[in-house]
Amino acid sequence: MRRRLMMMVALGCGALALTDFAAHWDASATPSPTSTAAPSGLVAQGHALFDSSCASCHGLSAQGISGRAPSLHGVGALAADFYLQTGRMPLPNPKAQPLRTSPAFSPSKIKALVAYVGSFGGPDIPTVQPSRGSLAEGQRLFGLDCAGCHTIQGQGGIVTGAIVPALNQATPRQVGEAVRIGPYVMPRFGEGELTGTEVNSLARYIQSIQHPDNLGGWGIGRIGPIPEGMVAWLLAAAALLLIARLLGERTSEQPERPPRPGGGA
Ligand code: HEC
Ligand code: HEC
Repeated sequence: MRRRLMMMVALGCGALALTDFAAHWDASATPSPTSTAAPSGLVAQGHALFDSSCASCHGLSAQGISGRAPSLHGVGALAADFYLQTGRMPLPNPKAQPLRTSPAFSPSKIKALVAYVGSFGGPDIPTVQPSRGSLAEGQRLFGLDCAGCHTIQGQGGIVTGAIVPALNQATPRQVGEAVRIGPYVMPRFGEGELTGTEVNSLARYIQSIQHPDNLGGWGIGRIGPIPEGMVAWLLAAAALLLIARLLGERTSEQPERPPRPGGGA
């Protein structure tokens, strides 16, 4: 038993050392002209995937096709990562709103496509750390900049011409990416509007609404005080009716009524 445990620990350490080595090796791999420094093999793999799955809309060298899809030069690894991780691309048709679905590619293919799109320049995938943000600031900013479309509980809804998604699936990284891209009708927020720290706070707030603690028990979809009040009234009214009915039944069961004077037999 002990030996097996020791062996497992040793194996674990070995694996850790290997991944660490791989990470360093990756980072120090052949420098390419792009800021993302993706290995050229990865870019080539991404190029091939792009030609078969994306070029029909975005053009053979991602330069865009007018009336179909925008150029991807300069959108960076950031936008590619967002659109592929959230399954928004490849789009079924050029006029459709890109909606979140499960990713169309495996993680390694996404990595390759992201490297290819990133090779045309543009922002890198951001690092978002919710633990470094402030919940109070996040809530304030979300109320100011986001709740108008996404609702303060992040439930989403509809604005003119677009479906606003609920934020229950967005990871901190995707929050950081969406803010910088402004996908579809969502406005774009640059560093000037929202700093990195403020994005951390937003991500922290969004995490908190993804895992709410429903004080008082039943969440009722967290749709607000009016429906909650209505549920309370409906339940209370039903309970009152039931009690009234039971009381009524008990009184009508009482048999000891005095015989009417001069009546019958
Ligand atoms: C049917 C056509 C179509 C296909 C196929 C398609 N796209 Fe797109 N793509 C679009 C359109 C249209 C937009 C603009 C969407 C919008 O307005 O929000 C877009 C936007 C994007 C963006 C965001 C650009 C920006 O300005 O931020 C990225 C990144 C992207 N596509 C990557 C891809 C990749 C990678 C593939 C292949 C896996 C792909 N697309 C396949 C039509 C397509
Ligand atoms: C004008 C309305 C509007 C505002 C304001 C807005 N959004 Fe959005 N947001 C959208 C729409 C519409 C989409 C879906 C875009 C698409 O279909 O590609 C979206 C998508 C997102 C997504 C991706 C969700 C997912 O699951 O893929 C995130 C994250 C997000 N918004 C966060 C924010 C944050 C944070 C703010 C405030 C800083 C904000 N949004 C402000 C309309 C808005």
